[in-house]
Amino acid sequence: MLYQGLIERYRKYLPVSAKTPVVSLCEGNTPLIHSKVLSGVTGLKVYLKYEGLNPTGSFKDRGMTMAISKAKEKGVEIVACASTGNTSASAAAYAARCGMKSVVLIPNGNIALGKLAQAMIHGAKVLAVEGNFDDALNLVKEITEKYPIELVNSINPFRIEGQKTAAFEICDSLGDAPVFHAIPVGNAGNITAYWKGYTEYFQNKKSKTLPRMLGFQAAGAAPIVINKPVKDPQTLATAIKIGNPASWKLALAARDDSKGLIDSVTDKEIIAAYKLLASEGVFVEPASAASVAGVIKLNTQGYFKKQKNVPLVCTLTGHGLKDPNIAIANVSKPIIVKPQIKEIIKKIGF
Ligand code: F0G
Repeated sequence: MLYQGLIERYRKYLPVSAKTPVVSLCEGNTPLIHSKVLSGVTGLKVYLKYEGLNPTGSFKDRGMTMAISKAKEKGVEIVACASTGNTSASAAAYAARCGMKSVVLIPNGNIALGKLAQAMIHGAKVLAVEGNFDDALNLVKEITEKYPIELVNSINPFRIEGQKTAAFEICDSLGDAPVFHAIPVGNAGNITAYWKGYTEYFQNKKSKTLPRMLGFQAAGAAPIVINKPVKDPQTLATAIKIGNPASWKLALAARDDSKGLIDSVTDKEIIAAYKLLASEGVFVEPASAASVAGVIKLNTQGYFKKQKNVPLVCTLTGHGLKDPNIAIANVSKPIIVKPQIKEIIKKIGF
């Protein structure tokens, strides 16, 4: 049978009924790619959960298929979100899929080009707020409380429900939960969702163990690590440029209940990890590389010293094509040549 998306695959673990009109773009079912490079560096069995291969290029589609299906069931006509880019791209696509209107509030000048293009082409009303993500989220919360518009940020519980299926897929692929799970943290919905997924699978005896959750924020936007909100967050990983995460408390619970940690990585470490992944053929957006940067940092500190060859999964949250400008800024420019074989062969190195 054709794959029909994660709601059909994991229906029995999701709050849907026969009456729920499923709005899907066949999201989920993303590959778990073995990383030779990172396994070599750490001595662990490192796998990459490549969420950039979702329909709109990020993990947000997992939550959006649920949030939009439930909104449709309720008769909602307009959905809204604040976003650093990926949520807006996903909301716009899923709203378009079922003939709903979408409104997205983005921090003006602070979202990657690909994401802006997606929200626009899918017909969202794009409002660029002169402020940061946290400002936009506060505004959209207030607006959706006062007007008949459904909020589809990750404080919408159906988003978390959809996103938890990534943990199910990992357990189904590996035959159990990994020993460690590394993940970037922004608004902290995804770490919450993974932990919920792992816990539910464990309780349902679909897995025998639970992983330690290892969350990573960007150093200039690391409120959970420094234990206070950041007024003016800074990082080139714009997806996680967030100073006051909505699911802060739930992220702490995931960290503590799993005996894991939440740490920060610098932009320099993020870019090094981003390039390392690219050298192995995996192109991600900078925020996604935070999970890998974190694993490298912990490895250097000896965190995995006693663990040999155990599975560690890194979630790679978004595709590299989302943010082409960052890629181009971090490599050398194309070499311009005349249309002559002799010159080209010389440049190739013969
Ligand atoms: N990685 C990417 C590529 C993201 O877009 C986000 C969040 C995260 C990681 C962090 O996930 O917020 O659940 O902790 N992006 C949101 C957005 C904020 O608006 O697209 P989180």
